[in-house]
Amino acid sequence: MHHRIYNFSAGPATLPVEVLEEAAHNMLSLGETGIGILEHSHRGKAFVEVAEQTEADCRKLANISDDYAVLFLQGGASTQFCMIPMNLLPEGKTADYIVTGSWSKKAIKEAKILGNAHVASSSEDRNFCYIPKEHSFSDSPAYVHMTSNNTIFGTQFSEEPDVPDGTPLICDASSDIFSRPIDINKYGIVYAGAQKNLGPSGMALVIIRKDLIEQGPDTLPSMLQYRIHEKAGSMYNTPPTFGIYMMGLVFKWILKQGGLEGIGRHNEKKVAPLYNFLDNSSLFNATADVDSRSQMNVTFVTGDADLDAKFIAESKAEGFDGLKGHRSVGGMRASIYNAFPAEGINDLVRFMQNFESQNG
Ligand SMILES: Cc1ncc(COP(=O)(O)O)c(C=O)c1O
Repeated sequence: MHHRIYNFSAGPATLPVEVLEEAAHNMLSLGETGIGILEHSHRGKAFVEVAEQTEADCRKLANISDDYAVLFLQGGASTQFCMIPMNLLPEGKTADYIVTGSWSKKAIKEAKILGNAHVASSSEDRNFCYIPKEHSFSDSPAYVHMTSNNTIFGTQFSEEPDVPDGTPLICDASSDIFSRPIDINKYGIVYAGAQKNLGPSGMALVIIRKDLIEQGPDTLPSMLQYRIHEKAGSMYNTPPTFGIYMMGLVFKWILKQGGLEGIGRHNEKKVAPLYNFLDNSSLFNATADVDSRSQMNVTFVTGDADLDAKFIAESKAEGFDGLKGHRSVGGMRASIYNAFPAEGINDLVRFMQNFESQNG
């Protein structure tokens, strides 16, 4: 195997080694077909089987009922920022947004281009270091939009917000999808860009209640209508075949880890040494409020920008890649999605202890 280093990138991010090995193995020939996975027609039997199995494993993993469609769409999570209001925000109605970071701000920006959008709550007053508990919803909103995990600021919802009765809750779960159990029935839509917990970038998994699909106008351009994608089984045009294949391998890998319960327990255990160290450190501080901390993106600072830069440079030289915080917040960020190995956290903590004793 090639030498792999610890990759703390926020996305595209570390994928399970066995998934990458299987994909590499099928690059020249998918099974015994004699045609590589990238080369199979999306209409052919071999790929149709891959797509069907991927959807079946996704449904099994999150216990998704037939009331929901599972769609594999292009354009990443950001295309969902506009597809959602295009399909679900009729004229005269208002969509409510819980604004917990840069991605929620991008989501509401798109909604405002297309109709009325209202900020139900925001944590911008403290640079998004917490998840708001109180929300002021508008009268009968078309939907409420939330971002379950805030990749840049290292915060995560610990449970769903209470929304007005009958209002669809829509969740951008790009950076924590399938990292812990989820009750899909509480949501109208759960969507996620693939490049953190699911596979290659450029596509989104969209789990959407079928009655919401029917509500959308049929006058939208075809590629932007959920209805068209559902009717075509995500194959209205040439779908992202490799991305669907990779997601399928990742779903199988999560099932092998004990499904969402198993991976959830693993993630909880995996992140604990890092937060424990940060809580007891005399040099480093976690930036998110304790009750809002993310298990996927751990953000921290020393309080001295020069020391942060020194830490990032020295950590990189030691084989810890991608620890620099997002350019909008600075400091450090360890992104440790499902496939990031627990040993990497333990090694990082040891490295931080040494750095602290030399620089504290
Ligand atoms: C929470 C969240 N939402 C949306 C996005 C945007 O995803 P994409 O680049 O697939 O459009 C990201 C990307 O990092 C993200 O972290």
